[in-house]
Amino acid sequence: MDYTTFGRTGLNVSVMGLGCGGPSRIGQSAEKSDAESIAIIHQALAAGVNFIDTAEAYRTETLVGAALKSKGVARDKIVISTKKSYRREISPALVREGLEASLKRLGTDYIDIYNLHGVGPLDYARLRDEILPAFFQLRAEGKIRFIGVSEMFNDDKTHQMLRDSLPDDVWDVVMVGFNILNQTAREQVFPQTVAQDVAVQIMFAVRRTLSQPEKLVAALQTLIDQGQLDPTEVDMDNPLGFVFEESDATSLVDAAYRFCRYEPGVHVVLSGTGNPDHLQANIDSLCRPPLPEGVGQKLRHIFRHARAVTGQ
Ligand SMILES: NC(=O)c1ccc[n+]([C@@H]2O[C@H](COP(=O)([O-])OP(=O)(O)OC[C@H]3O[C@@H](n4cnc5c(N)ncnc54)[C@H](OP(=O)(O)O)[C@@H]3O)[C@@H](O)[C@H]2O)c1
Repeated sequence: MDYTTFGRTGLNVSVMGLGCGGPSRIGQSAEKSDAESIAIIHQALAAGVNFIDTAEAYRTETLVGAALKSKGVARDKIVISTKKSYRREISPALVREGLEASLKRLGTDYIDIYNLHGVGPLDYARLRDEILPAFFQLRAEGKIRFIGVSEMFNDDKTHQMLRDSLPDDVWDVVMVGFNILNQTAREQVFPQTVAQDVAVQIMFAVRRTLSQPEKLVAALQTLIDQGQLDPTEVDMDNPLGFVFEESDATSLVDAAYRFCRYEPGVHVVLSGTGNPDHLQANIDSLCRPPLPEGVGQKLRHIFRHARAVTGQ
């Protein structure tokens, strides 16, 4: 595993973060047993992954806590990121209550990165003014080390919430949607995070579209229909086939993870799976060298106007 400094948090983190949400929720969405999900976490730890992302909404915090406990992982050897939901109901008291419940499920007395979960642009100012002070208070008490925010990428495909929030300079960590198909964060988010040394974790590196060929064709068609992709620049019978002809990429998933990992400004790429073979493949991908510059350039060029899809 490779490691990097996680922006201004100064934390030493693995370049791959294990995502315990997303479509698979470490296998829970595919009816895998708790033991199988815990085995996924153990496999990631054994490969050197020291960054785990979960959330109260994922219902995987208990599994993370159990996995860390059963391996006797020293608390200072793991970086735990979890999130507070706000959509049903939120108040400073509920933040404290939620944090205490997360601590209990995770079996720890502090969270490294506590995030506001899936914040939409219309909600941002209210949450900053009414809820963020509760995060500051918990940080002052030592229950949170760093404060983060994650965006609602499917509804906010060009990062309006992050564009509004970064100038406040109160977020140590942001979770950003970025992948081959939607590279808008390169212009909209990364210049600001780099300037402020804000730590960046990437979600949606692969999601479903880049791991399922029929979904890829549909996404490309959407981009063509919206005038955001030049149809002469993609072969719909063999989409992105040039990636394999011109690089050592073993799959589109492999190329997608490598594309994200080496993007300037990116610290951690999250990867979620309930499948041990996929996990090993993704670990390998995130430890491989960058794609050849020519392939990266072509991918940047082809999708330069794309903003209508997220890879969902
Ligand atoms: N707003 C938010 O805060 C937010 C939103 C979304 C995600 N997240 C976080 O970000 C993490 C990453 O999420 P994500 O959206 O990027 O999706 P993801 O959780 O990484 O999901 C990847 C998808 O691709 C499949 N997959 C993974 N590796 C594969 C491989 N090698 N070959 C084929 N298929 C593969 C997985 O299914 P299998 O199980 O079959 O492998 C899964 O369906 C989440 O786990 C979560 O922690 C946060």
